[in-house]
Amino acid sequence: MSIAGKLKTECDLSDIELKELLETDIYDDKLKISADKVRQKFYGKDVYLRGLIEFTNFCKNNCFYCGIRADNKKCERYRLSKEEIYGCCREGHELGFRTFVLQGGEDLSYSDKDICEIVSNIKAAHPDCAVTLSIGERSKQSYIDYFSAGADRYLLRHETANEVHYKQLHPGSMSLDNRKRCLFDLKEIGYQVGSGFMVGSPFQTTECIIEDIRFLQSLKPDMIGIGPFISHKDTPFKNFENGNLNLTLRLISVLRLMFPKALIPATTALGTLHPQGRELGLLCGANVVMPNLSPVSTRKKYELYDNKICTGEESAQCKDCLERKINSIGYKIATDRGDAKTLS
Ligand code: SAM
Ligand code: FES
Repeated sequence: MSIAGKLKTECDLSDIELKELLETDIYDDKLKISADKVRQKFYGKDVYLRGLIEFTNFCKNNCFYCGIRADNKKCERYRLSKEEIYGCCREGHELGFRTFVLQGGEDLSYSDKDICEIVSNIKAAHPDCAVTLSIGERSKQSYIDYFSAGADRYLLRHETANEVHYKQLHPGSMSLDNRKRCLFDLKEIGYQVGSGFMVGSPFQTTECIIEDIRFLQSLKPDMIGIGPFISHKDTPFKNFENGNLNLTLRLISVLRLMFPKALIPATTALGTLHPQGRELGLLCGANVVMPNLSPVSTRKKYELYDNKICTGEESAQCKDCLERKINSIGYKIATDRGDAKTLS
């Protein structure tokens, strides 16, 4: 069967077919249409909202690509207090959010006890909501404790599944093995797990991306987050080019076809790369958006990459703006928690 024919089904593709798809534009439209059909089969026109609370930009790590890396002395650091975090959730709940994503650098000043307290208080105040954590690599016991406190989901991009590439993106103190260990622990514990990678990160090859896809097939995540790499002026990667829009969109479609039930966000990085990036992402198979619920006073400080969008608006403005964008392309915001559909 031709690649185009295969794309009409929910497909697996060989490495050679994947390489062809990722390196040429030939199948762009067919790919997009097929991905949208699969997305509509499982999720209709629904787009799920995740309220992102960037609660700390302190980080002990030094990923070469990241604007909040420990060695970036120009980064103005902040931490939200527990009360500030609860305030973001209250505001988000009033705006209709039913998932809160607590994201931050790897900041050990929030102890496991603190994280558990924050999670359980949010769940007690908003029992109809899901809590997602995205706070990096921790021990299995910590992950168990957060889950027992009520955390439902965990986002941890693997960043790259290729050992050599991983070392080109991270200092020697970090390891791909530990990142993978975390992801499999999280799955075993029972979280809905999200992983993913940047598109166009320095030194990435098509072969790296194929390895990323194979890794995702072995992990079977519920959520897959991909977005373009965007350089940050105060990092070692400041002179590298940004990821490519078309490749990111094609990859969203390929992932939708290979993981029909996955929750795939149209990321802020995609919206930063192109003014209609998130709408394009949704049309190519994505079904999640993550408006910012962080206090406006801290948003600019969570600068993972240059020119990050949505840093000046209030939460309500951010949500309204995204809702307009979603409606303009014929989709609608879903009001439930938006749990992953069971993988089969
Ligand atoms: N510390 C947690 C972790 O490592 O999973 C969560 C925060 S981390 C900043 C969130 C994600 O931002 C990373 O997984 C990475 O893929 C993305 N990111 C960091 N720097 C980026 C850049 N320059 N361009 C695009 N995405 C970036
Ligand atoms: Fe903080 Fe990478 S710089 S996790």
